[in-house]
Parts: sequence; C-alpha cells; structure tokens
Amino acid sequence: MDATQGPPTLTTEESPATASAPDPAKGHQTIVVLDFGSQFSMLIARRVRELNTYCEFLPFDASPDRLLGQDVKGIILSGGPNSVYEEGAPLAPEWVWESGLPVLGICYGMQLMAHQLGGVVGPGREREYGPATVWSDGNFPLFEGLPPDIDVWMSHGDRLEKLPPGFAAAAHSDNSPIAVMADRSRGYYGLQFHPEVAHTPRGKEVLANFVHRVCGADGSWNAGNFIEEAVEAIRAQVGDGRVICGLSGGVDSAVAAAIVHRAIGDQLTCIFVDNGLLRAGEAEEVVETFTRNMQMNLVHVEAEDEFLAALAEVTNPETKRIRIGNTFVRLFEREARSITDARFLCQGTLYPDVIESASHGKGAAKIKTHHNVGGLPPDMKFGLVEPLRYLFKDEVRRIGEALGLPEEMVWRHPFPGPGLAIRVLGEVTKEKLDILRGADLIVMDEIRKAGLYRDIWQSFAVLTNSQTVGVMGDFRTYGYAVAIRAVVADDAMTADWARLPHELLARMSNRIVNEVHGVNRVVYDITPKPPGTIEWE
Ligand code: XMP
Repeated sequence: MDATQGPPTLTTEESPATASAPDPAKGHQTIVVLDFGSQFSMLIARRVRELNTYCEFLPFDASPDRLLGQDVKGIILSGGPNSVYEEGAPLAPEWVWESGLPVLGICYGMQLMAHQLGGVVGPGREREYGPATVWSDGNFPLFEGLPPDIDVWMSHGDRLEKLPPGFAAAAHSDNSPIAVMADRSRGYYGLQFHPEVAHTPRGKEVLANFVHRVCGADGSWNAGNFIEEAVEAIRAQVGDGRVICGLSGGVDSAVAAAIVHRAIGDQLTCIFVDNGLLRAGEAEEVVETFTRNMQMNLVHVEAEDEFLAALAEVTNPETKRIRIGNTFVRLFEREARSITDARFLCQGTLYPDVIESASHGKGAAKIKTHHNVGGLPPDMKFGLVEPLRYLFKDEVRRIGEALGLPEEMVWRHPFPGPGLAIRVLGEVTKEKLDILRGADLIVMDEIRKAGLYRDIWQSFAVLTNSQTVGVMGDFRTYGYAVAIRAVVADDAMTADWARLPHELLARMSNRIVNEVHGVNRVVYDITPKPPGTIEWE
C-alpha cells in the first residue's frame, strides 16, 4: 500500500507534457546531480534547491544532451552502494571530466573521482557508519566560514588510499585519513561524509560553499520568478484552449490549479468530486477557497451516495480502493465530457514522480498520479499541463503560499486518495464515517492547539471494527474503539510513531469518549513503518 496505489495511471499525448512548466533550460543556472543510487541522492537535489539554485537530478549514465542549452555551473556525484574497484561498478561518464566544470563527489562519488582520476581506493579496515568528526587541514573554499572541526554523518566501507594527481587532503577523521580531498585549480572536491543529511548539521553550509563559491551560482531561483515564468509558459502552451483540473483537496492539485488560474483565469474549470470520504469541513473548505476566495470556475460533484453505494458490504481494503478509483473515474469523465472543448488536463505532478517514472524506464508520458485523475478512456485525449513537474513538495508549499492559498491548505498533511474509507475498518457506512469524522476532528484540533501540526507527517483517527465494553455514569456502554495514529517521517517510505506528550493523548482520549457518540475507548498506535504501514488498511 502506498501513495501510488489508487486509480490507474493516466496516459496522454506526450509532446505537450513539459511545456507548461517553466523551462529551466532557459537561462537558469543549474547544478546537476548524477545519481549513483544512494538513498540520500534526491536529498542532495533538494538541498541545492534550498540554496535557491535550480538543480537537475539525472541517472549517472544520462546523456549530456539532456543539458543542452542549460547554464550548468557544476556537477555533484552522489553516493551509492557499490565499490568502485569491483567489476561493473558504475562510473562517472567522461563528459563530466571533459566539461571543465567544478565537480563535487560525495561518498561513492568521491571514490569514483579518485578512482577515475588516478588515485587508489580500497576496502577500509572497518566500516565507518554513523556520526564522526572531521578536522579540516587547510583553507579551502568548501570549508569557508566553518570551524576546523565539524560533526558529520559517515556511511562507507571503502576508503581512499592514495590521492589522484593534483589533489591534496583537505580534512581527516579518526577512521579516514583523507575524509575530504581537493583540487582547487579544477574545482574538484571529494567528501567522504554526507553533507546532505540532517545528521551533518553544517552540511548545508558545505554545499552552499560548493554551489556559490566554487561554482559561482548566484542563488536567483525562487518562488516569485518561478510563478512568473510558469504563468508565461502556461499561456504559451494553452493559447485560448480550455483546461480542466481535478481538485482533491490536497496541496499539489490546489497549487497546480491556482497557478494555472493565475495564467488563464476563466479558461480553467476545476472539477471537485466530493466522495463523502473527506475529513470534517474539507469539502466546504475546497469550495469556499476556490469559488469565493479565488473566483474559479468550479464544478462541485456531490457524489457521496454513489461512493457509499459502491462500497456497500465491501470489507477488503484493496477492493475498497478499486471501487473508489473506478467510481471516481466514471464521475470525472462524465463531468469532463460536459465541458466543451476542454483540450488540456492540469495535474499536480511533482519532480519526485517524474524522476521515479523516468528512472523506472516508464517514459515521461506515463504519469503516476496522486490526484486520482486517472484512467480516463483512450478517446479522451488531453495535453497535460503540469506546472509543478520540476518542484519538490516543500517548494510547492512555498509557491502555494506566494499564490495566496490558505495556510491550512498549503500545509495540510498528506491524505490518501481513498480517504476515510481506508480508516474505517471493515464495511464503510455513513454512520461509521460520521463517528470517525468526529473523532478525527478532535485529534486534529488538539494537535494544532499543541503547536505540533507542522512537526508531524500525518495524524488522524482510525475507527476500528472492534466494539468494547465500558462504563459511563452508572451505565454499561458497548461502543467502538478508536485508534489514534500520529507519525513522524521525512517521506512516507519509512515512519516512526510520534512521541506525543501524555497530557495531549489524555486530552484527546477524554474528549473523544465524551464528545463522540458511539465511541467508548481510545488506543494509541505505537507501530513504526516498517513493519506497520501508516494507514491501517
Ligand atoms: P502507507 O499506509 O502505505 O502510506 O504507509 C504511505 C502514504 O501514502 C498514503 N496512502 C495513499 N495515498 N492513495 C493515495 O493517494 C492510496 O491508496 C494510499 N494509501 C496510502 C498514506 O496516507 C501515506 O501518506
């Protein structure tokens, strides 16, 4: 179960797919990250973007043609699981060394740099994994503004035994005599540690020194100019055509719609299929925000009955997903067909989705969608408008704020496409959904009041399928047990249960049992992912 599951993916005409996003090839200074497979690779690209510098993330063997016309200022070689001296280990392509650009190698990237440029890498006596301290030995631009010793995160088995010609050792740690190497004249640097992870507290400054001082990027990529360029690109792509956009209530589709609306106003029609499986007040908020505040054309399809009918007597979680997906597609298609001459479909596809589909060799036109706007019949051919396809989630949030979307919407926790149907265990009924909404509202309210909303990845209530005996006043009760789930995570691949203060849990439990009719017991889920998943179904 993951965010990619849900309705089938959408296939559309390929050519217009990228035109609506501002073209980073158009004069933006770019840092290229070549991915050698480390679990942190994509984080490097995010960190570079946080330095207001456009960053392109490519597989290590990407053709340099991908960068034609771009103002590339430097290259970063990521970490990876291989050993450079092993048969078949991935190498940096020759164009990297021929480009004359500064290069930063991180972990495996550093070993590659050493190996390919005439140094020697061998197995270390001990694996170095976890926190370490590096002492810098010289005055290099990469360490400017930093103390001589910094705390870092190491994760490597191999180590550098002999420097390649032209390089000097720039820092050491207890286990790595050469923890940083530098060839100042060519702008080549190798780091044995990972500057991109939070466990290297000053890593961002090291990366900033590479991006700004070594590569000379001026840090001019920001939300404001992104919006202007996106608006221009959307107008150029769409002309006087009509665009439709499915709103889910989530951040990505909301920001995508807002930016398209800024570009073409009334040529955009949004379709909001209200499946009756949303949280308390969310459907009203979507309608209020987009019609009243933003004055958008919005088709509000109130389809609770259809979804509940499709879910009647279904208890299997996968069947629930399929039924919800199919019902959604049928209704969306019906509405889309009624909008005459709609030629474009706006989607909130983000950069990680694009990278994922490219690196899995699926090709750019097959888009993984989190918005449940998928699986439309083949005769419905749309050009895709995807203004966010070069952005990460945190950038999308900043742009949403800059476009004036309400804070609650921009910072909203992720919410699954099948909605509360996978948080009501067993059969989904209107009565159970209402009980869950009542409990969930209290969880959200207390999390917000405690000031923890932004520290938590997701928090919600689950209505278990168990009824338990309780006592209230002098009476016996027999009601549902509600579970509270709150997790912290950097992404949804792994997660840990949030260590919520006991007083907060006590308040939630007390309020739920007192205020939500039909519930007489509250439990807190203390399962990390893995082995649990975030959602219960
Ligand atoms: P799990 O439960 O797999 O969830 O740990 C990981 C993330 O994905 C969300 N999720 C879904 N999102 N359709 C979606 O659009 C789905 O079917 C679905 N299932 C889970 C979940 O909320 C979490 O953020």
